[in-house]
Amino acid sequence: MKPASLLLLFLFVCFSYVFAFIPHRTLLRNNLSKDCLTNKELWFNQTLDHYSPYDHREFRQRYYEFLDYFRSPDGPIFLVIGGEEPCIGIPNDYNADSLNAKWNRTGVENPWFVFGGSYAGALSAWFRLKFPHLTCGSLASSAVVHAIQDNTKFDQQVGESAGPECKAVLQETTQLIETKLATNGKALRATFNADDLVFDGDFLDYMADAAATAIQYGYADILCNPMVEAKKAGMDLVDAYAKYVKEFYVVFFSVNVKGYDREYLKNTTIDDDSYYRSWWFQVCTEVANFQVAPSNDSIRSSKIDTK
Ligand SMILES: *[C@@H]1O[C@H](CO)[C@@H](O)[C@H](O)[C@H]1NC(C)=O
Ligand SMILES: *[C@@H]1O[C@H](CO)[C@@H](O)[C@H](O)[C@H]1NC(C)=O
Ligand SMILES: *[C@@H]1O[C@H](CO)[C@@H](O)[C@H](O)[C@H]1NC(C)=O
Ligand SMILES: *[C@@H]1O[C@H](CO)[C@@H](O)[C@H](O)[C@H]1NC(C)=O
Ligand SMILES: *[C@@H]1O[C@H](CO)[C@@H](O)[C@H](O)[C@H]1NC(C)=O
Repeated sequence: MKPASLLLLFLFVCFSYVFAFIPHRTLLRNNLSKDCLTNKELWFNQTLDHYSPYDHREFRQRYYEFLDYFRSPDGPIFLVIGGEEPCIGIPNDYNADSLNAKWNRTGVENPWFVFGGSYAGALSAWFRLKFPHLTCGSLASSAVVHAIQDNTKFDQQVGESAGPECKAVLQETTQLIETKLATNGKALRATFNADDLVFDGDFLDYMADAAATAIQYGYADILCNPMVEAKKAGMDLVDAYAKYVKEFYVVFFSVNVKGYDREYLKNTTIDDDSYYRSWWFQVCTEVANFQVAPSNDSIRSSKIDTK
């Protein structure tokens, strides 16, 4: 089968990107647009609550479509669900109506195949389960279908993947950071360009994420090599870590530090980074998987809990 007849229509509810695990506010969105088949934004009025007969509120939902290989009128439609990124997709069959209008179709049923990774992977699996009559299949990549309230195993896996030497250095760094935070927090936060993270829990979560993210996405060497070298050379581990955080973590993963600030997350004013707030709303109301410290042998600070 030629690719052209296989790949008939793509609907991007969002940029597709596969996460190995719920990345929690660390959103890899640097330069994704150039990998897209299209950047042309399309919008439709989405029902807010499909299950309420009384609530008829709508919101404008963004999506993207790629029609080059679409076999009109009844060819398959591949729906890629976003999920943790700026445009959060909620798949339903509304799109079929707009397509019908666009292609002057009546009574045409297209087979829908749903894709997603990480949280969106879980969504695509659940969507297939719940609506088998609306879908012909789904691909659930790294799908986090099992929601865990206190996901202490995350930190354990980070330690295992880092290896004993790096893990020990990271643990020592965490202790040094905790001590400095208690004695001279202002200076410490400044070292990490995180002056606004005035709540210790927010700051420590930022510190933990910075290490975990490198490990999770396959950049352990970039984190571990300089840290282990700094330890061997008797250098200041906090300074070495600050260098990694500022020069790699923040830059490479396009991290906006204010996304860790609980006051920013409470602010309902919409700006370019408001997806931090919507993602955390989703995590706190439905997804959980809080990456808290295990009781023993953790890398992250034990002050990172769900309280
Ligand atoms: C993004 O792409 C542009 C142009 O291709 C490049 O100049 C820039 O360095 C890239 N940014 C990142 C963070 O990779
Ligand atoms: C979507 O809703 C807005 C506001 O209610 C309305 O003005 C607009 O015509 C609607 N668009 C479509 C395509 O129905
Ligand atoms: C659909 O019908 C309208 C009105 O007859 C026509 O202008 C338009 O070109 C048609 N679209 C397609 C994709 O055939
Ligand atoms: C929320 O953010 C807006 C825009 O940045 C700002 O003007 C406003 O003061 C903030 N509100 C609070 C309560 O911090
Ligand atoms: C603590 O962690 C170490 C290393 O992972 C393990 O060998 C030990 O059994 C753990 N102790 C407890 C009480 O869980």
